[in-house]
Amino acid sequence: MAATFRYKGFDIPVDLAHMTGGGEDTFDHISKEHMQQADDHIGISPDNSIVEIGCGIGRDAIPLAERLSSKGQYLGIDVVKPMIDWCQRAITAKHPNFRFVHFDVAEKWYNPNGSVTLQQCKIPVPDASVDAIILHSVFTHMMKQDVAHYLSEFARILKPNGKVLATFFIVNGDILQNQGPKSYITFYHPLGGGCYVHELEKPTHAVAYEENAIAALVASANLRMARPPIWGIWSGRRPQPGAGQDAVILELAG
Ligand SMILES: C[S@@+](CC[C@H](N)C(=O)[O-])C[C@H]1O[C@@H](n2cnc3c(N)ncnc32)[C@H](O)[C@@H]1O
Repeated sequence: MAATFRYKGFDIPVDLAHMTGGGEDTFDHISKEHMQQADDHIGISPDNSIVEIGCGIGRDAIPLAERLSSKGQYLGIDVVKPMIDWCQRAITAKHPNFRFVHFDVAEKWYNPNGSVTLQQCKIPVPDASVDAIILHSVFTHMMKQDVAHYLSEFARILKPNGKVLATFFIVNGDILQNQGPKSYITFYHPLGGGCYVHELEKPTHAVAYEENAIAALVASANLRMARPPIWGIWSGRRPQPGAGQDAVILELAG
């Protein structure tokens, strides 16, 4: 039997939690930080329809289940099948309006034996039906063509007033020049077009973008930044305490 820890009435598998970048010690703290960011920047109402990409093992779904009414809808998508299986068994069983779908995308870091490309995957919700889309620490593991695919899907599924909250590592000349052995994470490998990776062998281990590269991707999808980026503490642009990664808030360009 796999080791678990108890969180808000759920037994969370430790091995899967570690794959999402944390364990029992940080789970509640990060979960609260995510909810605070959602409240501050996108606003969640009980009857909302929410999509989360890279839902992991419910760090956001579990607190959202306390906040959505039975009219609210949540869809979580991930490329790791055991995470989706666990979320279905544990969360959907208690909250039938919380749905979890596996995208079997070939992804070197998270799902090396996947059978499809992301471009073959469509988010299974109708056009213009979603109030909020959340991605925590997901575009930080993704190459440009996959970010572009998700952004174009977001433009299709967002309601006219809908919002996206997505975290990134956003770099500029200063950050790139001043990184070193003591940095939170380094991005020494440019792949071109404002994209940098931490490790060439496993590029999706950690990916950073220049702000104008993100802006170009966003504009190509007919979305726009609803406000300037919210800096995280990772690059030193924001003093501690605060969220680790940078975040952007997107809306339909109109
Ligand atoms: C660092 S974890 C964060 C998980 C979750 N958002 C959280 O904060 O607990 C990144 C997640 O993104 C998922 N992921 C990676 N590539 C993905 C893709 N193309 N589509 C959906 N999920 C993806 C991984 O499987 C993993 O669960």
